[in-house]
Amino acid sequence: MTNQSALSKPYLLEASDLTKEDVFRIFAQAQFYMDDYEKGKKYDDLKGLTVALAFFEPSTRTKLSFELAAKRLSADTFSFQASSSSLTKGESLIDTLRTIEAMGVHIYVVRHGNSGAAKFLQENTSGVVVNAGDGKHEHPTQAILDAFTIYRHFSKFEGLRVTIIGDILHSRVARSNIIMLKTLGAEVRLCSPGTLLPRHKNIWEVEYIDNVDDAVEWSDVLLVLRLQHERMKSGIIPSVREFSKYYGVTLEHFSRKPEMILLHPGPVNYGIELEYEVSSYPNCLIETQVTHGVFTRMALLALLARKYK
Ligand code: CP
Repeated sequence: MTNQSALSKPYLLEASDLTKEDVFRIFAQAQFYMDDYEKGKKYDDLKGLTVALAFFEPSTRTKLSFELAAKRLSADTFSFQASSSSLTKGESLIDTLRTIEAMGVHIYVVRHGNSGAAKFLQENTSGVVVNAGDGKHEHPTQAILDAFTIYRHFSKFEGLRVTIIGDILHSRVARSNIIMLKTLGAEVRLCSPGTLLPRHKNIWEVEYIDNVDDAVEWSDVLLVLRLQHERMKSGIIPSVREFSKYYGVTLEHFSRKPEMILLHPGPVNYGIELEYEVSSYPNCLIETQVTHGVFTRMALLALLARKYK
């Protein structure tokens, strides 16, 4: 463990809970684990603490990486599956929390379909809540690992140009990334069909780029979002095919600018927002993001756990 002090707030609900100094503290701790970790190695940062993984919505990357992170730090962990819980018998969220709390939990990693669910839980527990994605609101740990991936590649944020492309309207990843990347000093722009932008888009004070060609010309980083096409039944875009034609990112885009990097939070809809061939492009860092997710989540948990030390 390096000699880092804890974070500004004793929880993580949204990107604005973290100062620039907090983010770099997490990066330093994550880098320490990356350099030091060997297969099977355990750290004592969370020894004696219990971490509940409460996922009320599906997840692969976030849930597994938090579980691995907590275990590498010697926490006791357990998973709460909404679909096989007493929620299906009508138990409320708050009663579910109290039941879990009575088992002696210290840290809750929560994913929920409702925006604000993580905040609601934090207000009703003396434990530490980490938002692992709440509705369309925020996904702050995704923004941390995305920023860490950018920083490890470019060693800076000042002057870096990042375009977030695709379904901004439904994306908690976009919200957290816009806030965090601007806090860190990057320039952020958005590229999306008008119907996939929030109505009050100027709350972020970001500029817009009309098409992917212009985005490629301007950007050092393309952060491509998953088209949440399960919501397309509502007719927000004319067709998935049309979206793909005008807003899909292809290998040809990268052949024009090989130094540009590509991030995607996953899961990817190949053939819709991203051409499959892009996945083998050297600066396509999707798997690197997943690896960084484990180390940045270890760092976050270790720093938040200082509350109990
Ligand atoms: N990026 C992300 O949140 O992926 P999962 O839904 O698989 O956790």
